[in-house]
Amino acid sequence: MLPKASVFTSPPAQLMGLLAERLPSSLTILRRLQFALRDESSPQHARIIVGSDRGALGPGPTEPRSYTVAYADFSAGPDAQTVLYSTLEDGQAVGDGGRSEHEQQLACVVDELVRLRSEHGRGWRPPPRLLLGSLHADVRAILERTGRLQGRSSGIYDKWLFKVRDLPPAEERLPDGMYWGRATFADCRTVVARTDIPRTADFLVKLPNLVIKLQDHTPIAWGFLGVDGGLMSLHCEESYRRKGLARNLAIKLLRESTGYFTDDGGEGWTSADVSKDNSASQAVCRSLNGQTAWVVSW
Ligand SMILES: CC(C)(COP(=O)(O)OP(=O)(O)OC[C@H]1O[C@@H](n2cnc3c(N)ncnc32)[C@H](O)[C@@H]1OP(=O)(O)O)[C@@H](O)C(=O)NCCC(=O)NCCS
Repeated sequence: MLPKASVFTSPPAQLMGLLAERLPSSLTILRRLQFALRDESSPQHARIIVGSDRGALGPGPTEPRSYTVAYADFSAGPDAQTVLYSTLEDGQAVGDGGRSEHEQQLACVVDELVRLRSEHGRGWRPPPRLLLGSLHADVRAILERTGRLQGRSSGIYDKWLFKVRDLPPAEERLPDGMYWGRATFADCRTVVARTDIPRTADFLVKLPNLVIKLQDHTPIAWGFLGVDGGLMSLHCEESYRRKGLARNLAIKLLRESTGYFTDDGGEGWTSADVSKDNSASQAVCRSLNGQTAWVVSW
């Protein structure tokens, strides 16, 4: 029988080391935990849950060979996504034994998530259900089979990976009448209005971002780095499209802000989850020298 999952209130250093060894498959959870470490307003209801084949995280003989990690923020809110990573996602042949070991770990971690959710709900209102963000297709398939996951119709996304050092050069100079800026709260309200993805201006304004504005301060193109370090909400207003603005903005943002998450920002991994149906965004990612790596859903 597998040991019970361990629960932490902040990311243990050993776990960060283990996840760094698994890059790029561990990218989403690693960046999420790096954001949690940097976020001064880190929510008091956030927990890191780890299930492993060894029941401990330390180096040496106790270092796990296979493990599953979840980061969950039990505060209510549309942006409070849970992130789940299993070493199963590495793509290395795990065999039948390895697969069932991972399935048991997933079961332990999900049990713990459910227990913590109700525990945090005592005297306080927990989210009605936990939303899993950027969930790997293989893990999703296992959880769906066990009946523990209810699929949403929000679509299937390609996980695009980029290396900051391999991004093409960015054009610093903008066309006349435009300037580089950061998103104000009012800009974030415009961003929210342009998408049907449930996000709030309060959430967006805390994220690393870059905006191209007109001289009268109207934002015309923008992008953000999400709490998982990925490029998100990339947008260019319709009348300014196909002029290279989104591409240029994405390159500059990824170069300048990936370092917020990691000291290796100069060459580090970064990502974007792009809907399979969004040919314009897929084209932008290709033009950034990105590669599709695996499939996720939200
Ligand atoms: C996706 C979007 C941000 C692209 O903005 P843009 O400023 O027009 O893009 P760029 O001009 O910088 O184009 C970058 C590359 O993508 C290609 N591209 C852009 N739009 C394209 C389209 N509709 N079809 C095919 N290729 C397209 C360009 O040709 C260019 O390729 P190249 O560098 O090889 O020449 C814009 O269409 C948009 O805001 N769409 C709605 C919001 C959205 O879907 N956002 C993505 C959420 S993840």
